[in-house]
Amino acid sequence: MITNVVEGQRNRKAPSKAADFNKRISVILLGLILHQAYYLGFVHTKIHESTTDHEKLVKSRTRPTSDQQESERPMKRGHRPEVYEQQKRSSFLAKPSMPPKPPPPKQKLLPKRLITIFGAESSGTTFLSTALGVATGAFAAEGKWQPVPLSSTWKFEKGVDRRVMSDDGEWEIQHISLPWGWNCATHETLDIVEALIPEECSRNEYYPQYTLRKGDGILFKNKGRPPNTPPPTHPDFTLEEKRILDMCQNEVHIRNNNGTWSCGAKCGSGAYDGFALYPKRFSVNISSHIDWYVSRGVDITAILSVRDRNIHMKGKMAHCRNEALREKEEDLALQLMDEALDRYGKRRSNGDKERAIVVSYEGLMGMKEAYLFELYHQLGINSRYAPEFKDGNAKYVTKQKGLQESDAIKISKTTELGESIVQMPTKDLLPRRLISVIGLQSSGVKFLSNVLAVATGTIPDGRNLVAPASVQSDVVEWEVQSFRLPSRCRCKSDEELNEWRVVEAYVPSGNDGFSPDRDRFIVNITSHIEWYLSRGVDITVVVSMRDRTISTAAKAQYCCLDESTPKEDEVALAFIKDAIKRYGIQSASENSDSVRVIPVSYEAMMELKDTYLFELYHQLGINSTYAPAFKDANGKYVTDIKKEDLKKETPRRRPTNGKKVVGARSKEVLSKMV
Ligand SMILES: *[C@@H]1O[C@H](CO)[C@@H](O)[C@H](O)[C@H]1NC(C)=O
Ligand SMILES: *[C@@H]1O[C@H](CO)[C@@H](O)[C@H](O)[C@H]1NC(C)=O
Ligand SMILES: *[C@@H]1O[C@H](CO)[C@@H](O)[C@H](O)[C@H]1NC(C)=O
Ligand SMILES: *[C@@H]1O[C@H](CO)[C@@H](O)[C@H](O)[C@H]1NC(C)=O
Repeated sequence: MITNVVEGQRNRKAPSKAADFNKRISVILLGLILHQAYYLGFVHTKIHESTTDHEKLVKSRTRPTSDQQESERPMKRGHRPEVYEQQKRSSFLAKPSMPPKPPPPKQKLLPKRLITIFGAESSGTTFLSTALGVATGAFAAEGKWQPVPLSSTWKFEKGVDRRVMSDDGEWEIQHISLPWGWNCATHETLDIVEALIPEECSRNEYYPQYTLRKGDGILFKNKGRPPNTPPPTHPDFTLEEKRILDMCQNEVHIRNNNGTWSCGAKCGSGAYDGFALYPKRFSVNISSHIDWYVSRGVDITAILSVRDRNIHMKGKMAHCRNEALREKEEDLALQLMDEALDRYGKRRSNGDKERAIVVSYEGLMGMKEAYLFELYHQLGINSRYAPEFKDGNAKYVTKQKGLQESDAIKISKTTELGESIVQMPTKDLLPRRLISVIGLQSSGVKFLSNVLAVATGTIPDGRNLVAPASVQSDVVEWEVQSFRLPSRCRCKSDEELNEWRVVEAYVPSGNDGFSPDRDRFIVNITSHIEWYLSRGVDITVVVSMRDRTISTAAKAQYCCLDESTPKEDEVALAFIKDAIKRYGIQSASENSDSVRVIPVSYEAMMELKDTYLFELYHQLGINSTYAPAFKDANGKYVTDIKKEDLKKETPRRRPTNGKKVVGARSKEVLSKMV
């Protein structure tokens, strides 16, 4: 049964590949013709803009992360959903030609719908904003020619560089790291601004006479040194600039000394009244950013993009060499995300729109389109666009031993995947509410199930559930289950355990010769949900997601891994993804049912702690303020990497025999106990 699923996907791929090939040929031909044109356009733009844009400059100065960002950025060409295979990039060939006409003047500066993606530096916000840009139609999978503000020229962008607005002005996607701007080394204060306002009204505080990108560009060229002379009091604004300034004042309500409306950053004065001036490095207060737009009638959602702290801190080192400041900035970023989630998450929304949504980088890389499509739905985006998911984390994870011992493990060749066991109803009382905590092995299932068991009052704090297991509260109100997919791992010493079976549902005392205490099994999550639903049990499956390379490395400490391990994981993931599709947010809203599958990110839990946990309690209807100690177990698997390794494109899922543990650290982040 399982093999059929995998087979099915393979078959589905075949025809699209042929089409793909034809398409690629025509793209190549077109590309060759356009290459010349593109090049001319590029040079043309550069001359007009006179300075290189912000992010490129940052990147060229911060080499170590640029490669990483590059590897997370590439998007698949064309709207081709349901493609699970990675494709080779052939970047320049895919570039379209520059639009023949100059961009039309903007008639409106505020979008109807705004999505702002916030993340700590190096947390993968470019990847997500590009995907959302394509999905909303504001951006294009092959890159887009974007109007350069206050000029009649275009600039080509491969991924969303800061922001993009759809041509009809309906959607805007912004992304910004916390903090943003010039390197922190020379900068001693932490500046917080109120909002990231429309680009046309934003200026650099030192160069308000130029567009923000140009002003930033000059500042960066001068290595962050402010100019000696103040900006002119009577700048030589063009008619178009005056028109924009008028829109900033009247449409966007940016006015110095206006008691009702605030500017978003420092209010410009005199000739610059109408502009908001930004410092050279700053963080945006996410909560006030949301308020700023809501008060102007913009339907905004802030995405809090979370990525493993140990990993993004490695990337961040390049932006900020001052360690004390680096930590302070990171704490501020977390505080701002925490505040926003607390104020604008589900829990406090009281039926209003959820305006702060946590998105986990590791979750995206693990669950791919199943997770991304749920996000589309939450954001009201109607799209099936799936980008290429390229895991930028893998290269930071220390390869553990265990992976080398595959020769020594004998796997029973006779194992047939997919034998399905039908569970019989049990004599035990079924609970009213059931929470099944599941996940791949070593993905945080134990942590999460224990927390939820304590929070629901099914076990006292300090006792442990050891999966596979289930406990019920005294009055059989709640039951918390915990099992991994598959339930046990392979091991040399017990070859019998190498066989596994697919079961329809995890029912602890089912009595049909199958024993969850003895056999190795994998639960079909969809049928598991249906089994309980059909018996009147209000079930929710909580999926614990953790970085896959890390969970594999962690698993290697007590399991024997071999070439079938990734395959098993894929089978497990296929079950989880199927369950998300059928019982996640999207299907729940279509069928006016409750959400029955909730993915939870281990990394986000370690970052946002109780705020994130309480959001989960809220979704599960748990009335508790129990918060455990959040001890990040990822740190010890994250290693410093050499520049050469960063350059190499490391294909995933091929266990190497690497024995070297380069600078492995055990860094336990013990944190706020409640
Ligand atoms: C602020 O601006 C609004 C319109 O943008 C105007 O109605 C109001 O009177 C202004 N308030 C002050 C104190 O200038
Ligand atoms: C962010 O803005 C909110 C709303 O204006 C405010 O309550 C909060 O204190 C601000 N947070 C920080 C860290 O400045
Ligand atoms: C899992 O269960 C669902 C619902 O019963 C079923 O439709 C699906 O085919 C099963 N998947 C596999 C791979 O057995
Ligand atoms: C949750 O618990 C608190 C304190 O125990 C109680 O005051 C409150 O009424 C409870 N709320 C619900 C919805 O059960």
